[in-house]
Order: sequence, then structure tokens, then C-alpha cells
Amino acid sequence: MPRNRWDIISKLIIDNKIRTVADIGISKGQTVSGIKRNLHDSMPGGYQLEAYYGIDPFLEPYFKIEQSMLNDFNNWLPFKMVEKTSNDFFTEYKDLRVDLIFIDGDHRPEQYKKDLSNSKTALKEGGILIGHDYIPALLDRKAYATVNADWTNEPYYRISEYIDSFVGEENLNFEQDKRVESGKPVFIWWTFKKGDKFSKVRE
Ligand SMILES: C[S@@+](CC[C@H](N)C(=O)[O-])C[C@H]1O[C@@H](n2cnc3c(N)ncnc32)[C@H](O)[C@@H]1O
Repeated sequence: MPRNRWDIISKLIIDNKIRTVADIGISKGQTVSGIKRNLHDSMPGGYQLEAYYGIDPFLEPYFKIEQSMLNDFNNWLPFKMVEKTSNDFFTEYKDLRVDLIFIDGDHRPEQYKKDLSNSKTALKEGGILIGHDYIPALLDRKAYATVNADWTNEPYYRISEYIDSFVGEENLNFEQDKRVESGKPVFIWWTFKKGDKFSKVRE
């Protein structure tokens, strides 16, 4: 039975004792609120994060996190809303190093490549890089040509080959997301930073 992306991320946070998170493309906050439910609301004692950076330029008002949701985070963790593009975030916070980055912003290949590269720099050693909207090579990627990632209407499959080469297929973990797009399963991927490369497991 597929899990929600926030359930997959929550487990990775707990298993790897993650303290700092950057969430690129926070949008309406579906992922972060799912993580909060898991790590705070339904966990006795709660799991304390030290910082959670939500990054999004909010190009469309509908895809914007509610202020009430932001206020609610104050009961749990130091949440920092960065209302900027990921490029501007990485420039402004160039010395910041975090334990986990979730990439789900602009899905156009040129920008996605920049997010991958900047995230690699911004991750601590052993940190986790996670992304949404991946199609594993074992599936027919071209069959996803008409299935759009819900930002910029970019077809899902276009970033997948680049993720394979950037991370190295042998270093990639992936799992099916509960969400289905146009009847087709979509996947979340993750890997661990190891020096200037990646590893499937945390070493
Ligand atoms: C697919 S939605 C994200 C969904 C969200 N991560 C979730 O799990 O529910 C994509 C978001 O990326 C944002 N976005 C677009 N361009 C961006 C950029 N250059 N940097 C950061 N976020 C961007 C959009 O405003 C939109 O809210």
C-alpha cells in the first residue's frame, strides 16, 4: 500500500535524527502539515526539529500556505518562511547547512538541475536529499509525457533521467507516493550525501 510523501519523509526524519529541514516549493503546506501531524500532534512527547525553512515565491495566490497554518507551527518548531525563489534562498543563506532538503519547486529541467546542485552544496555530510515527481527507469517514462507535475505543467518524466545521472541510479531510493496522477503512479526519491557524491544508505 503506497504511503503519503509526508509519511515517507517523517520516517526518514526520525530514523536519521534529522534536525534541520529545507522545503523547496512549500506551496499550500500539505507536506509540512503532514510532517507536523506525524511528529508532533500524534506522537507522545513529540519529535523536536531545530529549524524548518519553507521556500516559495508564491507565484499564484491559490498555492500559498495559510497564515493560520504558519501560526500553528509556532507550537512545534522554529519555522522560517522564505518567500523567495530557491535560487534567491540559496544565495541569501549561502553559509547554511541543513540535514534534509525536499525539492518540489519549479519542475522545469533547467531550474530543477540548479535546485539539485545548490541543494547538494547546502546539505551536511550524511544529509538527505529528497525529491518528488520521479519516474523510475524500470517504468515506461515516455508514457508519462502527458502527465503534468502540478507546477509549470512540466511533464513528470523529464527530470527523471537527470536525477538518475546526478545522483547515480545505484544511489537512489524511491517509493511510490499515494497520490496518483492521471491514473499513473508517481514516486518520491531520496539519497544520502557522501562527500561530493551520494549513497543509497547513510554511512
Ligand atoms: C508542486 S507545488 C509543491 C507542492 C508541495 N511541495 C507539497 O508537497 O504539497 C510547486 C510549488 O513550487 C513553487 N515554486 C515555483 N517556482 C519556484 C522556485 N523557483 N523556487 C521555489 N518554489 C517555486 C510554486 O509556487 C508552487 O507552490
